[in-house]
Amino acid sequence: MKTQWEIPEIGLKVAKRDSGGYLAAKGVAMPPGVPRSVPAPPGVRDFAGAVALGLNDAPRWLPARFLYDAAGSALFERICELPEYYLTRTEAGILTRAAPEIRKLTGPVTLIELGSGSATKTDHLLRAYSEDADSVRYVPVDVSSSILRAAAERIEDQFPGVKVDGLNGEYEAAFPLLAQYHPSLLLFLGSTLGNLNQAESVVFWRRVASAMPAGSHLLLGADLVKDPALLHAAYNDAAGVTAQFTLNLFARMNRELDAGLDLSRIAHEARWNAEWQRMEIFGRFLSTQRLRIRPLGLEITIRAGEHVMTEISRKFVLPRLTTYLGCFGFRLVRAFTDPRQWFAVLLLQKE
Ligand SMILES: C[S@@+](CC[C@H](N)C(=O)[O-])C[C@H]1O[C@@H](n2cnc3c(N)ncnc32)[C@H](O)[C@@H]1O
Repeated sequence: MKTQWEIPEIGLKVAKRDSGGYLAAKGVAMPPGVPRSVPAPPGVRDFAGAVALGLNDAPRWLPARFLYDAAGSALFERICELPEYYLTRTEAGILTRAAPEIRKLTGPVTLIELGSGSATKTDHLLRAYSEDADSVRYVPVDVSSSILRAAAERIEDQFPGVKVDGLNGEYEAAFPLLAQYHPSLLLFLGSTLGNLNQAESVVFWRRVASAMPAGSHLLLGADLVKDPALLHAAYNDAAGVTAQFTLNLFARMNRELDAGLDLSRIAHEARWNAEWQRMEIFGRFLSTQRLRIRPLGLEITIRAGEHVMTEISRKFVLPRLTTYLGCFGFRLVRAFTDPRQWFAVLLLQKE
């Protein structure tokens, strides 16, 4: 018997032959000794399925979006404050200087932000866009409901002229809004683009491009290739907050999937892959562990020394990135960078 597995990030549907575990997921009678599926709360199956899929792959990996539950989002906020994590400060500095010009170049628009998080950097744009307008619509989109709610409440308090219409879901959920709220400015900040691998990136930009009416604008934050020592420090901070962020994904498996992992035997590892121009972040297993995915009735053994990739963070070279985006019909309007050329904020227009 075959079953369909979907990988929405890359728009892929995979037909897999049922193994015992997969059958259990569908509640089909199992041979003695194999656990039956137990009812799972909404959302958990999605996580369970992604964990089953990624951990049965070679090499093992997990989709980065699951890093952001309430605990993960709170940890990410602490990462943004770390002295080694130059990204947030540098991009905020660029936006402080560039926001009035960006506002002038786009004219009045609805701001739609993908992966908005706490949206603190977005304040610079909201200030510029609400300055000479009676009201501005801001649509933050994020999978993490806790950070989305906090951001919406903060912005409504701080910016009475901004109407916030938050959307708790994946990026794709926002794409139909691009036509509905035309003219809009689509924000994708924090170099979150770097979390998508090449295949995911192509599918993502194709979908954005086909959903975006001609003349709409895109504001993209991209972290640039730099000295690997700086990158290494940024993802291996001395206070160990990034390590906690990585381990939280395994802690989430314990909380939501009853995985039974010993977190003290998993280490955060972040290293620069020069050929692929990306930081690669892993949980490295210090001892062999057998983890449960209770909602699917699956068990997986991960051996000592094995790595589970939890995240990538691609770094970009400016001319290559703008040419790449041009392939999807995005024309560069203006590139803003910092004096050290560590980070770029690109204003693009859909042709
Ligand atoms: C790297 S953080 C960036 C947050 C913020 N934009 C910034 O620049 O600081 C990525 C954000 O995207 C959200 N996110 C990750 N994957 C997502 C997805 N597939 N759909 C919607 N939101 C996602 C996370 O919850 C998180 O808030």
